[in-house]
Amino acid sequence: MVKSVNVAIIGSGVVGSAFVSQLKNLKSPINFNVVYFARSSKEALFSSDYSPVDLSTYKSATTVQPVLALDKLVQFLAAAQKPTILIDNTSNQSIADFYPTFIKSGISIATPNKKAFSSELSVWNEIFQASAAPGGGLVYHEATVGAGLPIIGPLRDLVVTGDKVEKIEGIFSGTLSYIFNEFSTTDAASTTKFSDVVTVAKNLGYTEPDPRDDLNGLDVARKVTILARISGFEVESPTSFEVESLIPKALESVEKADDFLAQLPNYDADIQKIKDEALKEGKVLRFVGSVDFKANKVSVGIGKYAFDHPFASLKGSDNVVSIKTDRYPNPLIIQGAGAGAEVTAHGVLADAIKIAERVAV
Ligand SMILES: NC(=O)c1ccc[n+]([C@@H]2O[C@H](COP(=O)([O-])OP(=O)(O)OC[C@H]3O[C@@H](n4cnc5c(N)ncnc54)[C@H](OP(=O)(O)O)[C@@H]3O)[C@@H](O)[C@H]2O)c1
Repeated sequence: MVKSVNVAIIGSGVVGSAFVSQLKNLKSPINFNVVYFARSSKEALFSSDYSPVDLSTYKSATTVQPVLALDKLVQFLAAAQKPTILIDNTSNQSIADFYPTFIKSGISIATPNKKAFSSELSVWNEIFQASAAPGGGLVYHEATVGAGLPIIGPLRDLVVTGDKVEKIEGIFSGTLSYIFNEFSTTDAASTTKFSDVVTVAKNLGYTEPDPRDDLNGLDVARKVTILARISGFEVESPTSFEVESLIPKALESVEKADDFLAQLPNYDADIQKIKDEALKEGKVLRFVGSVDFKANKVSVGIGKYAFDHPFASLKGSDNVVSIKTDRYPNPLIIQGAGAGAEVTAHGVLADAIKIAERVAV
């Protein structure tokens, strides 16, 4: 008898489409029965008898229905005979707010959506207490930090087996990695301006539509909040610690992204000065998040790193994290692509497989 598990997928954007394609080609001894697929925020494919959604034709399918309201979705999934994994491939806050309800109903979750894990500490506690309670669903969220890079799993393993984290430091934004790798190099003759790199990054599609959504540091703060909590640092929220914004104060209230970019060159001198000072010390600038247990401090901002430091030789839009613990006094370094459809989707699918191995019947 083949074991099987029900799967409900929400979202088919960049990550969601890649996830579906990887799931379609998955060779597994477990049968993944997709019983619900919200292919957009409006339309879903599902049938009341839980018969499987055809993943080869979901884009063109015409027998679609309005997406179920979240309370109805919980009822629909919980009433099935099989255990269910919810795959949330959105960045939607309302879906994230519903995680505790899904979990309390026995539904497991695999997701790259950071929102639930990086809001108030009470939400984090509610999610993991519900998951640990008898009958609670499992929760895996590897792709919420560093996309498909193995960061959360290994960090959790260290912590639960009794290691003590001393310091976590990393470059967690692909966009800001690219911007600083281009802007601040070891080449003293480089004349690259900060505003030019930001404009190029935007034109390459590396930034959010409004680059200020990357430059404000909040995305990095959310990821640092997650890593801090896993390692036992009870961060209240991503706005409860020091986050250095790269947006000049005067440009925070500029309405349009294009006007912001047009005025950004007026502020190049400020960050250029910091870069020149670093170069004199044989260092480059990088935008880092850190959790420092010794200093009892969580922070996000610009740091200076010597030319021979692993952060200084980072390439493209890669992420890197350095985890220093009692067992790893020479830090464990994990580095590689920290964004992109395929790597993120594989992180989510690998989580779904881990859940299925534990819950499939
Ligand atoms: N892209 C990456 O490289 C990357 C890396 C790491 C983590 N992530 C995370 O992965 C998640 C997805 O990112 P993405 O790049 O795939 O975003 P995306 O391309 O914007 O896709 C989001 C999808 O979610 C759907 N959606 C939103 N609200 C929904 C709702 N209430 N019900 C059903 N569907 C809904 C959207 O449908 P509509 O178009 O109809 O709104 C869209 O299909 C995010 O949490 C992101 O932070 C992404």
